[in-house]
Amino acid sequence: MAFCCTESELALRKRFEGVYERTQAPIMQTIERRVCGCDFGGNSWTSKDQADALIRLLRLGPDSDLIDLGAGTGWPGIYIAKTCSCSVTLVDLPKIGLQIALKRAEEEGLADRVSSRIADAADLPFSEGSFDAISHSDLLCCLIRKRAVLQQSRRIIRNDGIMAFTVISVAPDLSKIPYDRALVNAPEFIESEENYRVLLDETGWAVTEWQDLTGEYRDSCDRQVSADIESREELAELLGTVESNVRLAKWRSKLQAIKDGLFVRELFVCQPM
Ligand SMILES: C[S@@+](CC[C@H](N)C(=O)[O-])C[C@H]1O[C@@H](n2cnc3c(N)ncnc32)[C@H](O)[C@@H]1O
Repeated sequence: MAFCCTESELALRKRFEGVYERTQAPIMQTIERRVCGCDFGGNSWTSKDQADALIRLLRLGPDSDLIDLGAGTGWPGIYIAKTCSCSVTLVDLPKIGLQIALKRAEEEGLADRVSSRIADAADLPFSEGSFDAISHSDLLCCLIRKRAVLQQSRRIIRNDGIMAFTVISVAPDLSKIPYDRALVNAPEFIESEENYRVLLDETGWAVTEWQDLTGEYRDSCDRQVSADIESREELAELLGTVESNVRLAKWRSKLQAIKDGLFVRELFVCQPM
């Protein structure tokens, strides 16, 4: 299946495929439990507490149809479906992530309420008004066509639906040197043509709630550094010494960048205008 992606987006997709297979290794699950309180193979910074908050904010019930965009291996979509007994459609591009997600859904006894679709979030294959709720966790900083994702989301949600998502951005008003340092430590497509409030407004979304999650992002990254240090030997066995050292160096550098105020991680809750 062909998707409209740039070379750099394709390269990122390939990297995610490798990452998702590894998330199932026991040591990775141990680290994930410590960092985010879950073990679904998560690849965003969404913690269990934040997933619980999403459930409240999205006002989901057993009859709700949720779509989780950039669903990875099913975090937090499957957890949300399990907790509030709703149905969820998981959308992502790497097949391996969705395969892992469906296996987990089956293990959790949720096979009848969890479905998946390999699809581009910027070109969604669903008809107008198909869903009650949309979630995505740090998806928009992993792709270039942010406006198209928000437009497509607006098209497929019901008029009384709710969308809640987290996203990481470069902190506003940085001068060139800190800005460039932010980019080195950031998710690949963190740069946005416009700030998210403007993008949401221009794509037909009214922001009903907003939270700054940067402090929690810093704390999670701090736990990630500590967990990687404590699991050094197991990580070296899984990834090799060089890769596990590079990984730790990247977490440390990212943590310092967050502490230096180079990023913001935000939660937006919005409804169709
Ligand atoms: C930060 S990860 C989040 C994964 C998962 N939801 C989690 O919280 O762990 C972002 C996900 O977005 C997916 N993604 C990136 N571009 C996409 C696109 N154009 N359409 C659908 N998914 C995309 C990536 O493959 C990746 O799985």
